[in-house]
Amino acid sequence: MPLQTDFIVIGSGIAGLRASIELARTGAEVTVLTKSKASDSNTEWAQGGVAVVLSDDDNAELHEGDTLEAGAGLCDERAVETLVAEGTRYIKQLIEWGTEFDREGGNLVFTREAAHSRRRILHAHGDSTGKEIVRALIARARQESTINLLPFANTEGLIVRDGRCVGVRYADPILKAPREIFARAVILCTGGAGQLYLHSTNPPGATGDGIAMAYFAGAEIADMEFVQFHPTALNLENAPRFLLSEAMRGEGGILRNAQGYRFMGDYDDRLELAPRDIVSRSIVREMRKTGTRTVFLDMTDKDEAFLKRRFPQIAETCAHYGLDITKNLLPVSPASHYCMGGVRTDLWGRTTIPGLYAAGEVTCTGVHGANRLASNSLLEGLVFGARAGAAAAGEAREAAIPTSSSDDTPGNLNARISTAVRKRVKRGMWEWVGIMRDEGSLTRALSEFEQIEKARLSIGSRNFVTLALLVTRAALWRQESRGGHFRSDYPEPSEKWRVHSIQESGREISSDDRISFGEGG
Ligand code: SIN
Repeated sequence: MPLQTDFIVIGSGIAGLRASIELARTGAEVTVLTKSKASDSNTEWAQGGVAVVLSDDDNAELHEGDTLEAGAGLCDERAVETLVAEGTRYIKQLIEWGTEFDREGGNLVFTREAAHSRRRILHAHGDSTGKEIVRALIARARQESTINLLPFANTEGLIVRDGRCVGVRYADPILKAPREIFARAVILCTGGAGQLYLHSTNPPGATGDGIAMAYFAGAEIADMEFVQFHPTALNLENAPRFLLSEAMRGEGGILRNAQGYRFMGDYDDRLELAPRDIVSRSIVREMRKTGTRTVFLDMTDKDEAFLKRRFPQIAETCAHYGLDITKNLLPVSPASHYCMGGVRTDLWGRTTIPGLYAAGEVTCTGVHGANRLASNSLLEGLVFGARAGAAAAGEAREAAIPTSSSDDTPGNLNARISTAVRKRVKRGMWEWVGIMRDEGSLTRALSEFEQIEKARLSIGSRNFVTLALLVTRAALWRQESRGGHFRSDYPEPSEKWRVHSIQESGREISSDDRISFGEGG
């Protein structure tokens, strides 16, 4: 008899934990599979904060307007409305559950980030917002006796029978062998794929396997060409591309070139607080112009005590590499940060496969369109995690759980991405499918990745190169520039391309001009 549970949640970031809590509140048994320890997720690394309408001078229309503006014509307005309207309620609930956002005199403190018309970003312990949210959610999840967290259990495939997702294959951490576990429904909350690129702000686990698994299971994958590059990752030899939060620019940080010149005025009137794609491209252009590989973030005119209190984690990490954020210019350059595309869902996290739901960065809900507004991702994980949990609990309550194992379970599941494949894909993505792309670079990338795809690959390597192909094909297909996708051979947006790219296994890439991804239900 194979393992059975009511619901499977894959991933323990904000979306996965929130979905699990929602499911468990119905009394259902929930098994949460995570490939590392439960607190290791992209959420945990989130510094800047979470955008929410809670301050006196803010309102829902303003937050929606900023989100739609950043999304460059491809946001689903109903998804954005849902995010903003329900976000406030779910953040208040997080506070009730013990999340300690920073306060002054008892009042919540809001910071500003690029492209926000108001100060609306909540943060915790200065620059450890994600960590604090995960702490509170794990504590809340532990109060639900029906949630079983299964760490170090790498999921390697979704099991679909008669068109319905009924379980997953994973590598059992104790038996060190492949296993199957079946359920009434599965919720994918595996996060993004920033690690596809040579330089990334994401944790090592952000390899996008959830998107690849959903693709191989037959789900529709949308808008993979839209990748967000964060402008300011620490750029030091022998140091990881540690994120220097946008909140640093929100608090007045200035970008200077190698000659000390404040260059953003040459590119955009909004200076350092222009949208991320614009700041990232401006930095690349400035580096090319000055023949350097880095620019500098300057916080030196800010009060020392304030900086150390506001950005303790960043101060400590920089100090580890010999930099004092209050005295030194900090070398930075862009790095991949967030995938706007992913598994297509409707407003309740339903994918195109019955029984398979998804939430968080693994999805394309339509909330972010072509470019995500800073600090909207934790909010998305929270709101749509809860929604996916509620939908799965309601709709799959009576769904049968299979009792027999599959005949086709591979004997040797291997989720490791080979070092050679990892290196070639990451370099190729950075060089040819990066911040600026064109037909020549994308064609070159395509041929490189198709070549790799032909080799005998582990499941992990196959997933990784498949993702690279999904991004590259969509980027080649979209002959315009919009949001996070910049084609130097088509530098302007075009109304005829105000469509989503849709990819499905075994089919040519297609376009969908319905900006909304399905009925809300
Ligand atoms: C940051 O702190 O700059 C990242 C925030 C985000 O990506 O939303």
